[in-house]
Amino acid sequence: MKRFKGIQCYILLMSDNKITRFSIFGFKGGVGKSTVAYFLARDLAMRHRVLLVDRDYTNTIGKIYGLDTGIINVLADGVEGKFLARDGNLKVLSLISFQPRTLPALEDFARSYSQVLEDVDVVVTDNPPNLDDITRIEAQGYYRARGEFHCNAIVVTTPGLALRLTLEHLNEISSSLRSWVPEATYTRLVAFVVNMARENVDVEVPRKVVIPFYRDMLFKGFREVPEPKEMEKVLEYAEQAIAGGGPCSMIKQTTNLAPSRNGVKFLTQTYSYF
Ligand SMILES: Nc1ncnc2c1ncn2[C@@H]1O[C@H](COP(=O)(O)OP(=O)(O)O)[C@@H](O)[C@H]1O
Ligand SMILES: [Mg+2]
Repeated sequence: MKRFKGIQCYILLMSDNKITRFSIFGFKGGVGKSTVAYFLARDLAMRHRVLLVDRDYTNTIGKIYGLDTGIINVLADGVEGKFLARDGNLKVLSLISFQPRTLPALEDFARSYSQVLEDVDVVVTDNPPNLDDITRIEAQGYYRARGEFHCNAIVVTTPGLALRLTLEHLNEISSSLRSWVPEATYTRLVAFVVNMARENVDVEVPRKVVIPFYRDMLFKGFREVPEPKEMEKVLEYAEQAIAGGGPCSMIKQTTNLAPSRNGVKFLTQTYSYF
């Protein structure tokens, strides 16, 4: 057995429950990030104690669970309101509902956050299209609260131009996270979701999950329709990551884009497997 000493031992004592984090990222709005976050968190809550964290101003997830403000607005602006909800094994935390005058002190945020994280095994974060201040404070606050930080990224895009944009910016996820939390253990790609596909998606990315365009989902909203069956694969990849296994691919710092025959760029040798 490994021996720990000094600071590591202290951190282990603080973190009695092991948490696996998943972050749903995408570089465009309206591609289905919140849809994937919502279904994945509910699926995972069948077997784990899950915290779904809404990091987006749009508050798509927060609103579904009746949250009228964000913990950051409460801490920074002193507003009152509900920012945390519980639905069985699933807790939902809204970080923000409107632009705060200022950000809260990191220690204050981390203290409140660590209480929310106490009885949690899995964290799923829903994100804005751009990695912003709120994404940053959540990452840094989590590290302060837990003494550890890692990222299991689930990337969501639509086909075509958005897919190309996503591939070009993919590595910004790990570089941003590392600049915010240099002690981050790892960033790895757990699933690459191409959502709202109307035809075959011919792009070479590991852990690709293609979800077709479901007309009803767009017009009725994702809460009013059955969960897409393709989410099963995303869940399978997520469970593998929780178990610590599976051929999860790591997002490396360098992008390597090569032109393909039809002019669409795709990734080559950008991933290393472990
Ligand atoms: N596969 C799909 N087919 C059709 N509509 C979808 C699909 N996935 C999501 N939607 C719908 O697209 C809209 C935007 O989804 P959302 O998850 O809010 O995007 P984002 O979080 O990326 O902004 C929602 O109305 C949602 O119900
Ligand atoms: Mg969203």
